[in-house]
Amino acid sequence: MTIADIDVVKSADVNGEGYHEFRLGEFTFRRDEFFVYIGWPTGNHIMSADAFLRALQRDVAWDFFYGTVNFDGVFGTVNHYGTVDIFAGRFNDSYRKAELDYSENVETPRIRETFKSILEDWTNQTFDPFASPHETGSAFGLKNGANVAAITRRRVAARRMVAVPGDEEIRTDASGFPVNRMFSDVDQTEPVVEAEPGFESEVAAFNLFAYLSRSDVTWNPSVVSACKDSLFCPTTEEYILPIIHGNDRVEWFVQLSDEITWEVEDRDTGAVRSRVVMKAGDVCAMPADIRHQGYSPKRSMLLVWENGAGNLPELIASGKTPTYPVEF
Ligand code: PHB
Ligand code: FE
Repeated sequence: MTIADIDVVKSADVNGEGYHEFRLGEFTFRRDEFFVYIGWPTGNHIMSADAFLRALQRDVAWDFFYGTVNFDGVFGTVNHYGTVDIFAGRFNDSYRKAELDYSENVETPRIRETFKSILEDWTNQTFDPFASPHETGSAFGLKNGANVAAITRRRVAARRMVAVPGDEEIRTDASGFPVNRMFSDVDQTEPVVEAEPGFESEVAAFNLFAYLSRSDVTWNPSVVSACKDSLFCPTTEEYILPIIHGNDRVEWFVQLSDEITWEVEDRDTGAVRSRVVMKAGDVCAMPADIRHQGYSPKRSMLLVWENGAGNLPELIASGKTPTYPVEF
């Protein structure tokens, strides 16, 4: 399927507020000044427009991420890496019991193009869905321009490591951004590397704290080093992770600065499992059968360590690999 073949189903006219309506399979999407309305054959749902756009922004930018992206306790997507399930109520015990849950499987390019179109149409020029609420204007009101530059930011993905030849330009990009207001005390000195002649392209170092202090986005992990399937994905956080992430593999968190509280629930039912308070220096592993959402009261630095192996979801779903990383 090429992009040219994809028909994004969009209403011919705008509603009274200036926004188009969209359809994907049997799902319908509509927004007004404050809210987003999602419909499907067995029900419908309402979300605040800012929360919906923040979640949609992550789903689009991460190309549906690892496992499940819950926009809230009702609506979301499951990535099958080639196709995506779009669902309502599927991971919600009450919806399941009332048989109101609904799910459709669609080819990734189709949902990708539809979600990109919704994001572009519904994001006003005053709103940056990636920014901390403290650093952006309003998502609300009548349709008012667009913010294409903000919503099409490219996620940084180093092939080897930031600062090695080939990935060098990634660091140069970051240094073009000002140090964030919350990180003005972060030392900006870069390490001095003295490589033996002949090893200049193999030995490299950079100041990760300085790098992160210049991030202008929140809750958007970028890959700063890749060693086979081992991906270091640090990010800066403020306010609330705009999605509830349902894992299809174990992931590790290393709290690099400040503090984040994680609400951890059962992935499939939403039943509360634990609350994890992570302070600077704390390390934890999130199991493969949970979903989680983080709360960061001050801008903080978090290292997310992902295992990108393509066979992991199958190994875990079939029980060949446990849902937790260590046997004590
Ligand atoms: C996660 O779901 O594990 C996650 C997502 C985005 C972040 C941090 C953690 O910024
Ligand atoms: Fe996660």
